[in-house]
Amino acid sequence: MEEEGGLPAKQPWRVLEFYSGIGGMRYSVMKAGLQTEMVEAFDINDLANDVYEHNFGHRPFQGNIQTLTAADLDRYCANVWLLSPPCQPYTRQGLQKQSADARASSFLRILEIIPQLMLPPVMLFVENVVGFETSDTHQKMVQILEESQFEMQEFILSPLQFGVPYSRPRYFCLAKRKPSSFCNPEFNRQLLHVPELLVGCNESISISENGQLTSTSDKMLQTCLPIERFLEFGNSMNQVENGTSFPPDTCSDESSLKQYFVPSNLIERWGSAMDIVYPDSKRCCCFTKSYYRYVKGTGSLLTTVMPKTRDKTSLEELCLRYFTPREVSNLHSFPKEFEFPEHVTLRQRYALLGNSLSTAVVAPLLHYLFSEP
Ligand SMILES: C[S@@+](CC[C@H](N)C(=O)[O-])C[C@H]1O[C@@H](n2cnc3c(N)ncnc32)[C@H](O)[C@@H]1O
Repeated sequence: MEEEGGLPAKQPWRVLEFYSGIGGMRYSVMKAGLQTEMVEAFDINDLANDVYEHNFGHRPFQGNIQTLTAADLDRYCANVWLLSPPCQPYTRQGLQKQSADARASSFLRILEIIPQLMLPPVMLFVENVVGFETSDTHQKMVQILEESQFEMQEFILSPLQFGVPYSRPRYFCLAKRKPSSFCNPEFNRQLLHVPELLVGCNESISISENGQLTSTSDKMLQTCLPIERFLEFGNSMNQVENGTSFPPDTCSDESSLKQYFVPSNLIERWGSAMDIVYPDSKRCCCFTKSYYRYVKGTGSLLTTVMPKTRDKTSLEELCLRYFTPREVSNLHSFPKEFEFPEHVTLRQRYALLGNSLSTAVVAPLLHYLFSEP
């Protein structure tokens, strides 16, 4: 049997999951239906590791990725690396120190190790925020991957392009080490903003004059499901259209719904800066790790009363509430089996989810990465 990356090709791919958090990458691998063995996960955060262990029955290696050596990594005999390193060095809200930010060091270090490996990965997948693609860390990554004989294809995609009413554009790098290659090598070294390549409609791809793929994304936006399909509380439109709020007695646990209503002092102070959505909306904003701690720019708030006229109703009357962690994980397209251990507080749940990713986007990207021409 032919060998690839030191392993017989028929064996499942051996995967390392760096910066594993609560396991968004692992859920994406599962969703993509890939033949893999998850060999090890790595994360420094105790609480994230509790959640990962609770759901997957395996506790990630708890330590700083920066301390891993080439010998450590060779020992895993892994041929696929999945990485979602910290995004703070590249976010618009941050100082944008990029590689000079201490939080970028572990990713740079792991990249620098690649040329020293006896068994370098055959495939590599990186997720980060939009802004990473213009950073010096990105430049360094491209340089190392090219020198190590990788072909790359890059994407910026959002769940909205996959039928999920959730705006969370993210940067993705897919890399394959020669002689392994992509199904559509004509897109090597390109940054693509449309998902046609991934959803099996290659025949409809065409290239415009400026070299960009022409998109059917607008059509996909129209096919997004309404937000109500992702709600755990009050997902009946009738109830809302009758002008009634979701009364606590429609919930299995009255007190649990109460904690999600937005206090009126916050509405008075921040109302004009809030992103407000309705159960029938087909878009909501990215939930960040500060959701529930701050209201401005951290994620959408949901109306629980359907007003007669949407533009003339005061915000108070809309009885705004936060999306619950279950609802945020639904919008991340996590499986319904996903849950938090009881000791994780509400704020911690939002923080961990805010750091995670959309499996609706990552699963088709991984499927494409693993496909052979
Ligand atoms: C952007 S989040 C990735 C979240 C993950 N993809 C998920 O689905 O939850 C980055 C993760 O990297 C971890 N991390 C940051 N720096 C690290 C380091 N030097 N060593 C190990 N883990 C680190 C953080 O604890 C955090 O969980």
